Amino acid sequence: CGIVGILGQHEVAPQLVEALKRLEYRGYDSAGIATVDDTGTLERRRATGKLINLSDRLVHEPLTGRAGIGHTRWATHGAATEGNAHPHRYGAVSVVHNGIIENYRELRAELAELGLSPQTDTDTETVALLTGHYLSQGTSPAEAVRATLPRLKGAFALAFLFDGEGDLMIGARRGSPLAVGHGTDEMYLGSDAIALAPFTDRISYLEEGDHVILNRDGAAFFDAEGRPANREVARIDVGATAIDKAGHRHFMAKEIAEQPRVLEDVLSHYIKDGRIVLPEALDFREVDRITLVGCGTASLAGQVARYWFEQIAGLPCETDIASEFRYREPPLSDKSWAIFVSQSGETADTLAALHYAAPRVARTIGVVNVGTSAIAREADVALPTLAGIEVCVASSKAFTCQLAVLAILALKAAHDRGRLDDAALGRHLDDLRAMPALMSQALALSDDCAALAGWLSEASDVIYLGRGALFPVALEGALKLKELSYIHAEGYASGELKHGPIALIDRNVPIVVLAPRDALFDKTVSNMQEVMARHGQVLLISDAEGIASAGSGTHASLAMPSEGGVFQAMLYAVPMQYLAYHTAVAKGTDVDQPRNLAKSVTVE
Ligand code: G6P
Repeated sequence: CGIVGILGQHEVAPQLVEALKRLEYRGYDSAGIATVDDTGTLERRRATGKLINLSDRLVHEPLTGRAGIGHTRWATHGAATEGNAHPHRYGAVSVVHNGIIENYRELRAELAELGLSPQTDTDTETVALLTGHYLSQGTSPAEAVRATLPRLKGAFALAFLFDGEGDLMIGARRGSPLAVGHGTDEMYLGSDAIALAPFTDRISYLEEGDHVILNRDGAAFFDAEGRPANREVARIDVGATAIDKAGHRHFMAKEIAEQPRVLEDVLSHYIKDGRIVLPEALDFREVDRITLVGCGTASLAGQVARYWFEQIAGLPCETDIASEFRYREPPLSDKSWAIFVSQSGETADTLAALHYAAPRVARTIGVVNVGTSAIAREADVALPTLAGIEVCVASSKAFTCQLAVLAILALKAAHDRGRLDDAALGRHLDDLRAMPALMSQALALSDDCAALAGWLSEASDVIYLGRGALFPVALEGALKLKELSYIHAEGYASGELKHGPIALIDRNVPIVVLAPRDALFDKTVSNMQEVMARHGQVLLISDAEGIASAGSGTHASLAMPSEGGVFQAMLYAVPMQYLAYHTAVAKGTDVDQPRNLAKSVTVE
């Protein structure tokens, strides 16, 4: 979901829609805005589907006014209908909301006793009902919001607008991020700085539990106890023109193609003159265990890195998805470090996992792409992945940049712990430094992947197989295909195939085999033979020699570079991305904004 709010000098409706467009990448299924016009009248317009539907509605039923709030909604409670779209309104207040109000059922029951019945299926409406109810009893807008906030359980960011108040907007944050933009006689609210980039680069972030009262001439912040608080104003350069496809048909294609450049950026940030450059606090000598946590693609980056931490650094390592980690009450050693991997740095489960680990481990590290995000700010050490803004909901360049940072951490650990001498470290760093060029070679496989898209798009199930660090890459390949093309796909460890999944195999199930010529090559090839003996149609991904030795009888093959050493998993991400991308294009799905998905998942 995305939130934007403007107290401006000009008509805000077009500006709100423009700002919401910049939040489109977060994923949504309906949108709406509310404004207060110059007579003080609060009104709203909403529409399901893409923003163009809201724009069309505004052509026929315009909204005037210089104060407004807007929202893109990703449905949680209640279907993606116009009635459930934000802003929600009751009485003199309109509200937009990211997150979930967990106790909305109890609140509804309580409101029902007051004769207030909800008109929608949403949790958000209870916020409007509560605030509107307090207002109707004669409290001021600020008092009404202050009375409402302690009643709410869950994680949320909220923006309020009031009838009769053309110079007032109130924001609140608990769990979900909210930014304040400072203009000249104009003030803004946004769920991230990207939405506000065309208006201002002067940004403050609400801290956990804060609320903020905005007028055109400034912002008054209050902390969780309601005391006035100072929140720093920082200049955040996200670049007003950063969101552009640069000639590509989709953001996904652009972001895949950017990988050599962004990898170069991230590697040269952390490797200078043949040495690893990391904050001093990152000395691995006393660490007894690493825990890697994330969601979706970010969790898979952690799973790949686990092989590196264990095999290169000899450091015990566990990985988990954040939604399980946060509730399974894992005992954690106070000599261990926990690493949280997240593109957005705002994923609710990953943030909650960080909160769980922080008091229990020696150090928390955020590996994040958005430097101003909650995880970046709350982790003891934040390591930027420097992939640049990633707009496509499905992650590509952010994943390989996460892998680059994690590879550097694993090498640092290995060196600190005496597992690698300077010379051996140097050879691994050379392999990493070669990645951008190797990545460019891998990008040349785009056409070959496109040629296979027709075959894959006919399938109803696809299986991806890999061993070692290539196993989580197989999982990522399957995840990418599911996300982008809606084809059912599963990744398995090659050795696990015969323990169940082999029952699925027949001539209609494409099997993608990831087999770099490493120590496990022969084992993976044996598993591939087992598949082919059962008429499975195999796509073999290996280097030219691997294909020459094992490729006969396969349906097709893709020839990868053979260099890259232990970090080859990074390269194999590229055919995973392109196979999913071209299959989605062949099927005509919405590549950059797949159905039901959101880029920044600020709910559990
Ligand atoms: C969402 C996105 C995925 C992403 C995951 C984790 O589900 O659709 O592409 O991998 O969130 O996001 P994060 O921002 O924490 O990396």
